[in-house]
Amino acid sequence: MNKEDIKKKYKLKIKELNKHNKLYYDKSKPIISDSKYDKLKIQIIELENKHTFLINKYSPKQNVGFKPSKSFEKFKHKVQMLSLSNAFKEEDLRSFEKKIFNYLNKKLNFNYSVEPKIDGISASLTYINKKLKYGVSRGDGKIGEIITENLKTIKDIPLEIKNVDFPNEVEIRGEVFIKKKDFIKIQEKFANPRNAASGSLRQKDPNETKKIPLNFIAYTFGFMENNSHKYQSDFLNSLKKWGFKVNKDNKVLSNIDELLNFHKKFENKRFDLDYDLDGLVYKVNDLDLQNRLGFTSNAPRWAIAHKFSADSAYSKIYNIEIQVGRTGALTPVAKIEPVNIGGVVVSNATLHNEDEINRKDIRIGDIVKVERAGDVIPHVIEVDTSKRKENSKKYIFPTKCPSCGSNTVKEFNKVTKKYDAVRRCLNDSFGCNKIAVEKIKHFISKDALNIDGLGKKVVEKFWELNLLKKPQDIFNLDFDKIKNLDGWGETSVQNLKNSIEKSKNTSLQRFIYSIGIRHIGIENAKLISDYVENISKFIEIIKQKQFYKFLDIDGIGETQINSLNSYFLNQSNLKILLELENILIIENQKINKNGTLKNKSFMFTGKLVGISRAEAKSLIEKNSGTTISNISKNLDYLVIGEKPTKRKVDQAKLLGIKIITQLDFKRLLN
Ligand code: IVH
Repeated sequence: MNKEDIKKKYKLKIKELNKHNKLYYDKSKPIISDSKYDKLKIQIIELENKHTFLINKYSPKQNVGFKPSKSFEKFKHKVQMLSLSNAFKEEDLRSFEKKIFNYLNKKLNFNYSVEPKIDGISASLTYINKKLKYGVSRGDGKIGEIITENLKTIKDIPLEIKNVDFPNEVEIRGEVFIKKKDFIKIQEKFANPRNAASGSLRQKDPNETKKIPLNFIAYTFGFMENNSHKYQSDFLNSLKKWGFKVNKDNKVLSNIDELLNFHKKFENKRFDLDYDLDGLVYKVNDLDLQNRLGFTSNAPRWAIAHKFSADSAYSKIYNIEIQVGRTGALTPVAKIEPVNIGGVVVSNATLHNEDEINRKDIRIGDIVKVERAGDVIPHVIEVDTSKRKENSKKYIFPTKCPSCGSNTVKEFNKVTKKYDAVRRCLNDSFGCNKIAVEKIKHFISKDALNIDGLGKKVVEKFWELNLLKKPQDIFNLDFDKIKNLDGWGETSVQNLKNSIEKSKNTSLQRFIYSIGIRHIGIENAKLISDYVENISKFIEIIKQKQFYKFLDIDGIGETQINSLNSYFLNQSNLKILLELENILIIENQKINKNGTLKNKSFMFTGKLVGISRAEAKSLIEKNSGTTISNISKNLDYLVIGEKPTKRKVDQAKLLGIKIITQLDFKRLLN
C-alpha cells in the first residue's frame, strides 16, 4: 500500500471510531460489542505505531474519547473548584506578590506553601461523620459528576477516618494521577498519563477503573466545618495524620527569591520523580490572609502555578488564516503541519496580532518553533530563517475584514497614547457574519446562558443551515429539520429542547454578560446588575442614553461607558436586546440585603491604612452595602483616609453627607 492508501484506510477507521464514540457516549446506544470497539482502537493505534506520519486529533491515543459520561449524576460543589493563574517567569511572580501587597495595602512578610503541581485530574471527596460520602469530579468548577464508586477503588483514598479531630463535615480536594512506571504498561492506549487517569476515572464500570492503577494526593479543602488550622502547612500535616497521601516534596519558603531557587532545582529533579508534574504551586501559607485575599472571578488571589518551561517543536506554516473574534479583533493563526508537542497534536498556532507578525517577520512557508505550555494556546516563538526559501514573500496583513469586507482599524488608545496592536472590524452589530457567529457562541457559553448541547460546533452548523442567525433564533429553532440532520435524533433533539427551555430562566448578570458588549465581562456585568438591580432599569438607561450614570459604580470608567454608548448607537442591537427580554425570564439581581451596612453607600478619599480600596469595597459588599465613586445626595458616608481630596470633603460637607474616618468605618463593620 502506498502512503496515500494508508492515510485513506486510517481516516476511515478514525471516522468509524468517532461514530461509535458518539453512539456510546452521547446516545448511550452502542451498536457494536466492547471487544469489537477495542479491536478497532487497537487497529488504529497499530497503524499509528507502524506509520509515524499518521496523526489525527481524534486518534484514541490523543483523545481518550471519554467525554463526561451523561450517565453520571451531577453534583453542585459547595465551594467552587477554581483553577490557578499561571506564572512563567520571575516577572510574573513578582507581579503576583505585588498584587497581594496592593490588595492588602501593605508590604507584609508571609510564607508560601510550596507544592509540586501534579499533572492529573482534580477530585473532591466529601466526608460526613468521618465516612466518605461523595467523590466528585471537577466538571466545570461549579457542577461536577458523582464518581464515588470509581474513586473508592483508589487505595490512597481513605473510606473512613478514625481520628478524633477529623471534622464532621469536610471536603478534601486533591489530584488523581497515574505513576510513570504504570503508564509505561498502557502507553499504547493513551497519549499521556493525564489522559489515562481521566479516562479511567470516567468509566461507567468501577471494575474498569480498577484495572488502571490510580493514585491520589491531597492538597486542599473546599468546605470544612470548624476549621482550626492557621496555616496551609498545618492543614497538610493534618491530612497526613488523617491518613491521606500528601506530597513528600511540599515545603514552606519565605520569599520570591527562595521560590525561584527552588523552582530551578526542581525543574531538573522532576525527571527523576515517578509522576508527571508541570510546575509548582505557591500558596500564601496563612489561611486568614488567604481569606482576606479571596478570589477574582476564576482564580484565587493567594495562589499561583509556576510552570516549568514549555514543550516545543518545529513545523512548517502552510497558511495564515485571519480569525474574526466576537469583538471584531482580527487574530492571525498559523496553520502548521501537524506536530506532536508533549503528547498533543498541534496544527494551529496563534500569531497574536498584526504587530507580532511584523516584529517577527513571520511568513507563509516558514519553519517555525511552536511552543505549548499546559492549557495555554500554542504560539509561534521564532522563525528559523536559515530554512527560508529565497522566493519567500513578506506577509501582508489584510486591511479589510476577511468576513464582511469592511474597513478595519487599529484604534488609538487615549490612555497609553499608542495605537492598538490589534486590528478590528467595526461592523459590530450582526452585519459581519463571523462576528455574529462568535456573538451567538458567546451568548450560549458557560458564564452566559449556559445552554448544554448547543456547543460552538453546533452553532456553526446551524448558522450554515440558516437555522440560527441571531441569538433569539435559539428560542424558535426548527426542530423538525434538526431531527433529520446527520448526528441528530429524537433523544438529542429532546435534550436540546430541554436545555434551551431551562436557559430561559436566567440572572440579570448572566444576561448583561451574554450580550457580548466589548469591555463588559463577567465582573463588569455583575457591577452593572448590582447597580440597576432589574432589567427594566437597565433598558431605561439604554433608551435614555444615560450610561454616564454607571460612572457612579466603582470599577466602571470611561472605557466601558464609551463601549456601551457605541454598542447601543446601533438600533438593531437594542432591538435584539428587547426581543430577548421578551423571551427570557430575567431574575432581579439578588443582593444580600440583610448585612449590617444594608442600604448604605460609601465613597473613599485618600489613602487607607493597612487595607486597599479593593478589599474595603469587598468588605462593604459582603455586608450588603454599596460603594460609589461620585459624590451625590445618594451618598451616605464619605470615608477619609490619609491626604483626602479637599474638594470631595467640601462637596460632602455641602450636601450634609456623613464624613467618617477609617476607624469609624471599621467600627461600622463591627
Ligand atoms: S490548589 C483554587 N494545589 O492544578 C486553588 N491545585 O490549575 C485550587 N493542582 O485544578 C487548586 N497540584 O487539578 C492546588 N498542590 C496543588 C495542586 C493543584 C495540582 C491542579 C488542580 C487544579 C489545577 C489548577
